[in-house]
Amino acid sequence: MAYNLLKGKKGIIFGALNDKSIAWKIAEKAYEEGAEFILTNAPVAMRYGEIKELAKQCNTEVVPADASSMKDIENLLDVAEKKYGKIDFILHSIGMSLNVRKGLPYDKVNYDYYHKTMDISAISFHRVIQEAKKRDIMNEWGSIVALTYVAAQRTLYRYNDMADAKAVLESIARSFGYMYGRDKNVRINTISQSPTMTTAGSGVKGIDNLLDFTERMSPLGNATAEECADYCITLFSDLTRKVTMQNLFHDGGFSSMGMSERAMMVYNKSLEQEEEE
Ligand SMILES: NC(=O)c1ccc[n+]([C@@H]2O[C@H](COP(=O)([O-])OP(=O)(O)OC[C@H]3O[C@@H](n4cnc5c(N)ncnc54)[C@H](O)[C@@H]3O)[C@@H](O)[C@H]2O)c1
Repeated sequence: MAYNLLKGKKGIIFGALNDKSIAWKIAEKAYEEGAEFILTNAPVAMRYGEIKELAKQCNTEVVPADASSMKDIENLLDVAEKKYGKIDFILHSIGMSLNVRKGLPYDKVNYDYYHKTMDISAISFHRVIQEAKKRDIMNEWGSIVALTYVAAQRTLYRYNDMADAKAVLESIARSFGYMYGRDKNVRINTISQSPTMTTAGSGVKGIDNLLDFTERMSPLGNATAEECADYCITLFSDLTRKVTMQNLFHDGGFSSMGMSERAMMVYNKSLEQEEEE
């Protein structure tokens, strides 16, 4: 059901790769809620062509931009400025680690890859916000949101250097949230989402079992990509104008749990099995 929460609002959405992407669901919901936006993704992601289908569906265009290239970000904001003048929201839904992709564990990372992880997954957020602020492209009470994961704060085996990138990402939301709020009443937040079966998500080895674990641990169950989109729309809307500099957990309660009955059951069973062997 649509509520017209984003009627008249304009924005930029980074990171829709295919219909599993969280950004894809957010774009669909934002369109349903009356927003206009530009879609963007890395030039290499254009090859798959799926984002063009989303653009057609949302009556918009795709502007390729590598989030680690200042030139690309400048060009993207040029296009947004020409098209809309000012904008109201930006979604950063970008994550990539070659260390994760290539299965290099955290104590054996390749440092060129580590730099890339940081540049693409975290510093790109700073880059986009800095350029937006310099141009004064955001309307007052505009909203900037990035997606993050609980591994920024708690160690989750196998999340690797992405945990460090997410910690930096969340810190950027606080540091820039202060300055952008103080100077222009623009809010900046991160949404810490449950593990979700997307292209990036399935890059983390053992995601199936992790999803089962977090489902058992969370009193409300795992949050889906669609539910994440609903939450994100509220943050883009005028209903959350005084929320800024926050890392907001959208994880069915997982981050506040230590052990649940449903998880304990499985743990007990596996201990019994071990004793029998
Ligand atoms: N899937 C999960 O379990 C999960 C959980 C919590 C947070 N997140 C975060 O959600 C966000 C979206 O991920 P997703 O799960 O929808 O997966 P996804 O693979 O659909 O999205 C990741 C996006 O990052 C883009 N990207 C990679 N390198 C880029 C670059 N150099 N420039 C611009 N874009 C680039 C990809 O093209 C892709 O569109 C990421 O920040 C991810 O870390 C995901």
